[in-house]
Amino acid sequence: MPTKPAPATDLAPDPVPQPAPQPATDAVEKRSTVRALLRLWPYVRPVRARLGTAAFVAILASCVGLVIPLVLKWMVDGPVADRDPAGVWLGALYLLLLGVAEALLFGLRRWMVARPLAGVEAGMRADLFRHLQRLPVAFHDRWASGQLLSRGTTDLMLLRMFLAFPLTFLLVNGVTILVGVGIMLVQDWTLGLVILGPAIPVMITCGIFEKKYSAVARRAQDQVGDLTTVVEESVLGVRIIKGFGRHRSQARAFYELSHTLRGTELRKARLLAAIWAVIVTLPEVAIGAALVVGAVQVADGSLSTGTLVAFLSTALALRWPVESIGFLLAMSQEAATATDRYFEVMDEEVETEGGAGDPASVRGGGKRGPAARGAAAGGLRFHDVRFRYPDAPPDSPPLLDRLDLHIRPGESMALVGATGSGKTTLTALVPRLHEVTSGRITLDGEDITALSREELRSMVAVAFEEPTLFSATVGENVLMGAGDGAGAEELGRALAVAQADFAHALPEGTGTQVGEQGLSLSGGQRQRLALARAVAGRPRFLVLDDPLSALDVHTEAAVEAALRQVLADTTALIVAHRPSTVLLADRVALLSDGRITAVGTHHELLRTSTEYAHLMSGLDGHDGHNGLDGHEVPGEGERR
Ligand SMILES: Nc1ncnc2c1ncn2[C@@H]1O[C@H](COP(=O)(O)OP(=O)(O)O)[C@@H](O)[C@H]1O
Ligand SMILES: [Mg+2]
Repeated sequence: MPTKPAPATDLAPDPVPQPAPQPATDAVEKRSTVRALLRLWPYVRPVRARLGTAAFVAILASCVGLVIPLVLKWMVDGPVADRDPAGVWLGALYLLLLGVAEALLFGLRRWMVARPLAGVEAGMRADLFRHLQRLPVAFHDRWASGQLLSRGTTDLMLLRMFLAFPLTFLLVNGVTILVGVGIMLVQDWTLGLVILGPAIPVMITCGIFEKKYSAVARRAQDQVGDLTTVVEESVLGVRIIKGFGRHRSQARAFYELSHTLRGTELRKARLLAAIWAVIVTLPEVAIGAALVVGAVQVADGSLSTGTLVAFLSTALALRWPVESIGFLLAMSQEAATATDRYFEVMDEEVETEGGAGDPASVRGGGKRGPAARGAAAGGLRFHDVRFRYPDAPPDSPPLLDRLDLHIRPGESMALVGATGSGKTTLTALVPRLHEVTSGRITLDGEDITALSREELRSMVAVAFEEPTLFSATVGENVLMGAGDGAGAEELGRALAVAQADFAHALPEGTGTQVGEQGLSLSGGQRQRLALARAVAGRPRFLVLDDPLSALDVHTEAAVEAALRQVLADTTALIVAHRPSTVLLADRVALLSDGRITAVGTHHELLRTSTEYAHLMSGLDGHDGHNGLDGHEVPGEGERR
């Protein structure tokens, strides 16, 4: 299963995006964990007071814990030595109160951070989603959806966990260790130095660990993205997989990826195990040594038993703060990687708005103005358009080259061409789903790059061959194409034009849920709803990419009859394969080798262009004799 490579962090924000993103390993080595995590600050800023207070509470709780050994010392040297049971009970009461206070403070901290951090996570997720919606189609062509999905789920969860634990506890543990070591040094500085012995080797180990772990963490998170992609594709394409009996190979692809991920996770575990071994063993040895030295001193009489007890219980209390540093660092690394992955997407340039500053609008010198309008410049016009996909091989010729085409106001033009000649691409240029490489496209004389996206997309409506319905009602899906004020009347009209009246006969009429979680519709039904969506807003320009390909002959004829009325007062570009659809249009343009090689009526072109005659004869093999693409349910036309 092909997955797109994970894009690199350092893609230049170039108006012409560079092809073939590099794997991110280089970037990983150069980047610093702290710098990566600092990028979270804008999101953390609003909750900084809460987080700060919570950290303070945690430090307080930790220090309360450190008082316990001092009470022990007082008990051992005082009431225990004096055999005073009342004193012992009092000491026990103090210990109980201190323990309860520590527990309550830690609980308070958890309670304080839970809500704000859930808010931070939700805010970041909303930003990511908004950004994804605004990124150009070229970006989505390049990125595997699973990589985006895993960023929105796993990575953001890792970030929230980082803010909840490591961020606070690296600080809290640091302070606790400092205070604890201070107390121990004050108790007895020789024993203190013995305990401090392993500090330097532990720090060196942590440094080495961080570097190694960071690379593996990045690999693991990218692999989760690949895995997500496979799952997503397998679920969305489940019919194809079953139909072709591919579930075994699909399962193998999944198994291989998950096996690789398992290997990476095991490597993470091994690294963690190594650092734990060092972090746990060395202090343990130091405590043992301190115990021996201390016992000798107590025997000498140079140290009180209480002090030794206090000393050792302080050392034991510090065990957890020291030991936890290993996985706190690991979690921080994962969070830094997650931050990198998050901002890789957030740093991508969104679609440029029209008007000044847009590189495309400067190119052709296409100043808009009243002078440019009028019959000659009106309608939909392609001027010397050249286009190549940003991710096409750099030495390949442009897909569309020096293409000129003029669709007059109110005219409907059919676009005919062999499979792969670039018809779909050409239609996608009009609503600026892709940007022309050079040349201009004008609507009634106005360069589309001079219009805001909103203006442009309210003028132009599109329907694509592969109709997409969202998980919503039929009505919501169709009225998506209309303005805010549109209601039942507009819905009825649009459904009628698209011959989609079957919608009224659905279980809950136009309120029936469709899309992934709703009722499954046939290909022809979905196409008609997509067509209804395109005509719902009564657009001035209509761009239809083979919108009737999945319809049976009878339905197609009916849709065409109804479309004829709509086409009468719109300027339309319709990609067509069948003579019947072509006949709907006033004129036909033939797309061949990236250029418009002929324009005329259907009959003219049949006479003058052998290529056109060949395409229309249906001998080409690709053209849409119904049912070839397996979309249509037999008897579809009668089901209405
Ligand atoms: N996102 C893309 N990136 C690179 N090449 C693409 C992309 N989409 C389509 N192509 C290529 O552009 C060519 C024209 O595709 P298309 O416009 O869909 O043709 P048609 O609709 O005429 O069948 C095909 O060779 C196709 O492989
Ligand atoms: Mg196409």
